[in-house]
Amino acid sequence: MTEDLMQKIVSLCKRRGFVYPNSEIYGGLSNAYDYGPLGAELLRNIRNLWWKTFVGTRENIYGMDGAIISNPKVWEASGHVTNFNDPLVDCKDCKERIRADHLVEDSLKISAGGKTPAELTEIIKEKNLKCPKCGSTNLTEARKFNLLFKTSLGSVENTTFDVYLRGETDQNIYVNFKNIVDSFSPKIPFGVAQIGKAFRNEITPGNFVFRTLEFEQMEIEYFIREEDWENVFEEWKGLMWEWAKELGLEEEKLRWRAHSKEELSHYSKRTEDIEYDFPFGSFQELYGLAYRTDFDLTNHAKFSGQELSYFDTKENKRFVPHVVEPTFGVTRTLLAVLLSAFTEEKDEMGEISRTLLKLPPNLAPYKVAVFPLMANRPEITAKAREVYDGLKTNFYTAWDDAGNVGKRYRRQDEIGTPWCVTIDYQTLEDDTVTVRDRDSMEQIRFSIKDLKTHFFALLN
Ligand code: GAP
Repeated sequence: MTEDLMQKIVSLCKRRGFVYPNSEIYGGLSNAYDYGPLGAELLRNIRNLWWKTFVGTRENIYGMDGAIISNPKVWEASGHVTNFNDPLVDCKDCKERIRADHLVEDSLKISAGGKTPAELTEIIKEKNLKCPKCGSTNLTEARKFNLLFKTSLGSVENTTFDVYLRGETDQNIYVNFKNIVDSFSPKIPFGVAQIGKAFRNEITPGNFVFRTLEFEQMEIEYFIREEDWENVFEEWKGLMWEWAKELGLEEEKLRWRAHSKEELSHYSKRTEDIEYDFPFGSFQELYGLAYRTDFDLTNHAKFSGQELSYFDTKENKRFVPHVVEPTFGVTRTLLAVLLSAFTEEKDEMGEISRTLLKLPPNLAPYKVAVFPLMANRPEITAKAREVYDGLKTNFYTAWDDAGNVGKRYRRQDEIGTPWCVTIDYQTLEDDTVTVRDRDSMEQIRFSIKDLKTHFFALLN
């Protein structure tokens, strides 16, 4: 059933223009996807809601938008050049490259996070684990593989030098810490937020957009006094949980999981993940919350020779702030939102009678769809166009005049459009239309002049 759900989502995403396999006409590229018209809209709505929640409506969180390529010293100072590794094994027979920790976890149903390559090699040999592609046990020893994408800068061959595509968005924030403090004189605690692409040379079993080479993150580096970290950590746990609920994710599909000591990233003293019950492999990381201490600012200060500290005028004291970091994957959010919203209604015979995406209206790609009851009646079509033109300046609105109204409702249900407006003969007489609700299928007559107020009220 759960595998089946994943297949249904992948198929719906392709068919209805949410997610396409990248460069498909050339045979595609593993773990790379493109977002179609509805996927682009859903991603935009997720980003906008996040920005409004954590930046727009908070006085002490500043937004920024940094470059993807930075001076490579940023990634040396951050520890990613030496520590940002995955353990991999190769199958000597079919040449498949496999994450050694995932092979152990999937085959033995035990946790392998944080185990060294030598420990993983020992388990793989002892338990005779097999290549998931061809079944061979002829596997190499596990070794570390750096996840940063390297590219070179410069047009003349002997003047080029290596740079990295950013592996996480937050490093832009640390290297701009002094600029933001100088420009805004924020009072501690304060945060800096960013949304943007990150890149990782991931080897994955291909769970659709769950883990991709190129993905988007929404991150906040929250600068605090060291002594406050535990309270701030708890506070963010609450805020992150509320956010997940706002997306329509069911609480029973969410849980917190603390990282073991061995599993912690090189910069973290404590990390907890919000995990979501994905249909593959049960609960998996959706978001992370890390106490990064003063690791990043201290290292950037050391590598750059610049002072990266904060002067507290109240206490007349200079110190290096500590950081609590809530991090959210945008594309992983899209997958969880689609999985939670996907609903199949059944009739008395147990047959599927309706497929719908029960998306929260503020996330739905289209908010409204407008239908002329009869496409071949010019006076009805003209009136419907008038309604459509009036709505589309405020709401992302679909136009559909193909097939009968029942089919149009089904098409909009499948992409999560919360409201459908139909213009019929009565509209020509009294300027009223029917508004049909996606979830209840209830139809109510409204005056055209009240439509905008009605939709604004439902969206806020
Ligand atoms: N700055 C901390 C950091 O990057 P992370 O746990 O490596 O922490 C944060 O990543 C979030 O980014 C994850 O919780 C997940 O939502 C998302 N993410 C990480 N790797 C991803 C990938 N390869 N594809 C899609 N999303 C990913």
